[in-house]
Formats: sequence, C-alpha cells, structure tokens
Amino acid sequence: MNKLIGFTRKFSSSAALNSVKTVTVVGGGLMGSGIAQVAAQAGQNVTIVDIKPELLDHAQKSIQNNLQRVAKKVHKDDPIKMEQFVKESISRIKITTNVEEAANVDLIVEAIVEKLEPKQELFNKLDKISPEHTIFATNTSSISVNAIGSGIKRKDRFGGLHFFNPVPVMRLLEVIKTESMSEETYKIMMEWGKSVGKTCITCKDTPGFVVNRLLGPYSAEALRLYERGDASKEDIDIGMKLGAGYPMGPFELADYTGLDTNKYVLEVLHKLTNNPVFRPIPLLDKMVSEGKLGVKTGEGFYKYKKYKGEARLARTSTNAFQCCVVLCQSSQANIACEDPYCILVTKSDASAKDIDTAMKLGAGYPMGPLELADFTGLDTKQSVLATLYKETQNPVFGPIALLDKLVAEGKFGRKTGEGIYNYLEKI
Ligand code: 3HC
Repeated sequence: MNKLIGFTRKFSSSAALNSVKTVTVVGGGLMGSGIAQVAAQAGQNVTIVDIKPELLDHAQKSIQNNLQRVAKKVHKDDPIKMEQFVKESISRIKITTNVEEAANVDLIVEAIVEKLEPKQELFNKLDKISPEHTIFATNTSSISVNAIGSGIKRKDRFGGLHFFNPVPVMRLLEVIKTESMSEETYKIMMEWGKSVGKTCITCKDTPGFVVNRLLGPYSAEALRLYERGDASKEDIDIGMKLGAGYPMGPFELADYTGLDTNKYVLEVLHKLTNNPVFRPIPLLDKMVSEGKLGVKTGEGFYKYKKYKGEARLARTSTNAFQCCVVLCQSSQANIACEDPYCILVTKSDASAKDIDTAMKLGAGYPMGPLELADFTGLDTKQSVLATLYKETQNPVFGPIALLDKLVAEGKFGRKTGEGIYNYLEKI
C-alpha cells in the first residue's frame, strides 16, 4: 500500500513537472511582454492580459521586433527558418482584456503595476476562478511575496518569479521560495524557468531578493557621490564600465530601468530593512517629480532622442573615476555578507554561488560580488572597508562578522586557497 502511495506521488509529481504548457501573463508592459515572448519562443501557449488595449497592441509589436532580433541570431543563415520562428512564436500568443478568459492555464505570472493592493486583488480574484492545479507567480521586484499572496488559499502553489530587463536577453530568473510553497511547486517553477532559457537561482522572500538588494546600495551610493559633486555622472558611469567591467554605468542603468522604479525599490527596501543606505535621495525625488524618468520619457540623467540612447558614453575615456568602483563594489559585497541586516550568506537567504550567479546573469557583471571579494583578497577588502568606514561613518562600510572571521583564520580568498569559496583541489 505504502509502495502504491509512493508511486502515485512520484507519478503525480513528475507529471506535474512536465505540465506547464499553457501560461498567462497578466500585465502587458515591458516585463510582461518579455516574459510572454520567452515562453512563446519555448513553444508554450501564452495569453497576455491587460486592461489597456493599447498596451496589448504595443506588446505585440515589441514582441514581434524582439523575436526578429532573436531569429537573426538563432537562424542567421536561413531566412526561411527565421520567418518560421517568428511566425510560429507569434501564433502562440493571444491577447485579451478579460482575465476570466485566461484563468484556466497551468501557470499565471503577474507583472502588473508595482503596488501591493492591485496585486493582492488580482490574485484573490484568480484564486476563485482558476482551476486547482494552476500555479501563481508574481514578478514583483521588491514587494513581499507573502504579502501579495496573503489572501489566497493556494499558498502552496504560489511564489515569486523575478525576471530582469531586457527579459529576452538577461539570462537570470530569481525563484522566490516562500515558506508555504510546496516542494512540487518549487520544482515546477525551477523547471519552467529552465524551459524558457533562464538560469534559476533560489532566494527566500527577503527584501529585494538578491539582485535588487545589491543593486540598491550600488545605485544609491552612485547617486550620492554625484549629488555631493564628488564626480560627474559621466565619470561614474565610465568608472564602473571600465574599472569594473559592468555593461552599463549606474546612471545609464537607472535611466534604463526607470527612475520611478529605482525610487520605489529604494523606498520599499528602506521601509523593510531600516538600513540607512536605502534612505531617500533628494536628487532622485526631484527628478521623478519633474517627470524625468529615464529612457521611457526621453530624459533622465541623460537625454534620449526618440527614446534611443543618444547620450551613450564614450567607452574609452581615460578619465575614469576609480574611487567610485571601490565604493560601489564594497557596498555590494558588504550587503551580500554582512550580519545585521541581511541577507544573503550569513542568514542563508541565498547561497554564495546563487548570489554571484544572480549578479552575473541578472545585471551582466563579469564577476559576482563574493567572487570578486575573494579575487581582490578578503584582507584587502577588510582594510579598504575600515578606511571607508572611518572616513564616512556610513554603516554600509561597517565591520562584517563573516569577513573578520575569515581574515582571522587566514582565509584571504584565492591567494590563500580559501576565502568565501574554497579553491584548494581535493586529493
Ligand atoms: N530583445 C531581444 N534582444 C535584445 C533586446 C531585446 N529587448 N535588447 C537587446 N537585445 C540584444 C541585441 O540584439 C544585441 O544582440 P547581439 O549582441 O547578438 O547583436 C544584444 O542584446 C546587445 O544589445 P545592444 O548591442 O543593443 O546593446 P548592449 O551591448 O549595450 O547591451 C544590454 C544592452 C543587454 C541591456 C546591456 O547593456 C546590459 O546587460 N545592461 C545591464 C542590464 C541590467 O542590469 N538589467 C537588470 C536591471 S534590474 C531589473 O531588471 C530588476 C527589476 O526588478 C528592476
């Protein structure tokens, strides 16, 4: 009898693992259309729901354009296959303004406005009209996943699937595992992420998850550096690109993701963590109130002609401001492994490997912050942080128990064979 139960469980679980064939994406904006695109590209039938018909039209057009970019890469020497790929992918996408028409699917991913109440209302409604087996996921960038799903009954079939902009290009998917999520749902989410071409990392329902938690202090420190007049925005951007190998500088990235999004994420992180590194930035508040939101409005830190990056920076200037590289990277590695607030390593909200993977695939960094700390040397990092803390009294540079412990044990990173990671070959 027990054997039979075991078999049935195994069977139902593996059947479920292959079961995401139909997907609904609620929200037809930039993120929603990107999510729909990667699912359709992977052969799944997708419905995009939005209350605004004009957004749905726009989503279809932008998906068509982006599919053509993908097709050029995948089938570059074969125009017939290129056309077929675009045509077939597009034919798998339906649009509707009526969520009830799209509730009967295997997976529903929500990517609507970044506000708690509308998200809660949507899931409460979906919970009533969707079949039992439907799994729900939110693409929230900073709101608590548990709070979003607090009103639904199927808490075991609910979690976070956090994508990165531009969705078709960034290879990362953060799977947010809540305490009430079942192992089966977690496996389905991880498998689904893989099926749409993403590398999945796992994070608990902790403020900002991995990437936004680390991008927040980076972006905030860059803004304050500029606000104080310590360096120009151009030099800070060049510094991070040439000194750290990032694909965009912090001001280019803020313009790209939207200053309103940046402000909102910082506000939420400040509220949830009370960490002063996330405190309000007057310059950001002013720009948002003036409607300067970045690429989408034609002006942010830079001006954009027809929303295309007119103000692209020269990648070869020699005037890079290296000090901001140290400041920004230190703050990120600090947040990644510090004791009191976070997060990641010491509180095991995410593993060291997943944190590094997240920053490489979600933000295009050449190394993750913890790999970089091992690379530069934990002893060096400790002394740089001590100097920065002494000079600025900024708690983001304050002592880190994990770092102090590793250095005291002589584990300095790559040069000693062990640091956050172990580099010694096992015999
Ligand atoms: N769809 C499909 N392909 C696209 C695309 C899209 N929307 N956008 C760009 N691409 C492709 C291009 O076709 C090009 O392909 P190719 O190399 O084969 O020619 C490639 O991507 C590079 O594009 P570009 O040449 O136009 O420009 P760049 O080389 O400057 O790369 C970038 C653009 C990929 C955006 C790069 O600058 C980058 O990685 N920036 C960092 C982005 C980042 O950090 N994103 C995360 C933001 S945080 C977030 O999203 C979380 C949220 O919660 C706020």
